[in-house]
Amino acid sequence: MEVKIEINPTQVARTLAGQMVHWHELGTLRNIALSGGSTPKLLFDLLASEFREALPWKELTYFWGDERCVPPDYEQSNYGMTRQRLLEPLAIPDKQVFRIMGEADPESEADRYGGLLREQLPLHHGIPQFDLILLGLGTDGHTASIFPHEMGLWDAPGFCDVATHPESGQKRITLTGQVINQARRVVFLVTGSSKAERVEEILGRKEPYLSYPATRVAPADGSLIWLLDKAAAEKL
Ligand code: 6PG
Repeated sequence: MEVKIEINPTQVARTLAGQMVHWHELGTLRNIALSGGSTPKLLFDLLASEFREALPWKELTYFWGDERCVPPDYEQSNYGMTRQRLLEPLAIPDKQVFRIMGEADPESEADRYGGLLREQLPLHHGIPQFDLILLGLGTDGHTASIFPHEMGLWDAPGFCDVATHPESGQKRITLTGQVINQARRVVFLVTGSSKAERVEEILGRKEPYLSYPATRVAPADGSLIWLLDKAAAEKL
């Protein structure tokens, strides 16, 4: 595991963008599972502007680590946010984009998307292997859409499953732990002082870190990078 601490969220995004260019030059960045939330928005804006010529974005394939079960044009849609800030500005062809259909029946969509991952990605030990999975960290220690009250989803048998937001009850589709930990690379993008306590507990292995789904992220054959700004790292 590698921990990189940058001065601010923009520098976090810039560091990741630079890493992505490097990985593409190595020929090992062909597909990406994106995350939602506010932190990735900075990254997407940067990729679509300063880094728009840095690599052939149209050649990569785009997936999601989780999605809210809402239609794509809803403000809460991770795909909708990504389309607005990344896919449209970079004119990514639809054929390169594999969104989770938030408008579909959750159980059937979890099955459909799991099957799609099996078709679209190389299998490693029979499990779809992403070149890169971006993850955020919730203030409750959740990651993707696996929340502490549903820790069992981490070990669910499928590649995707249906989660429930603990406060709103909103249904979500999420990758499960076996896919996340099969990735070649997993990068946590974590910014802001609201995450500092969780970061300290997880990286410092301080109880109740074992109750946080984010603690379970440990790619078996891949690399794990925690990309933090100073605020999120202030308790380290
Ligand atoms: C989502 C995300 C979620 C997010 C964390 C952190 O769909 O909300 O996938 O896991 O990454 O909640 O979100 P912020 O980056 O907004 O803090």
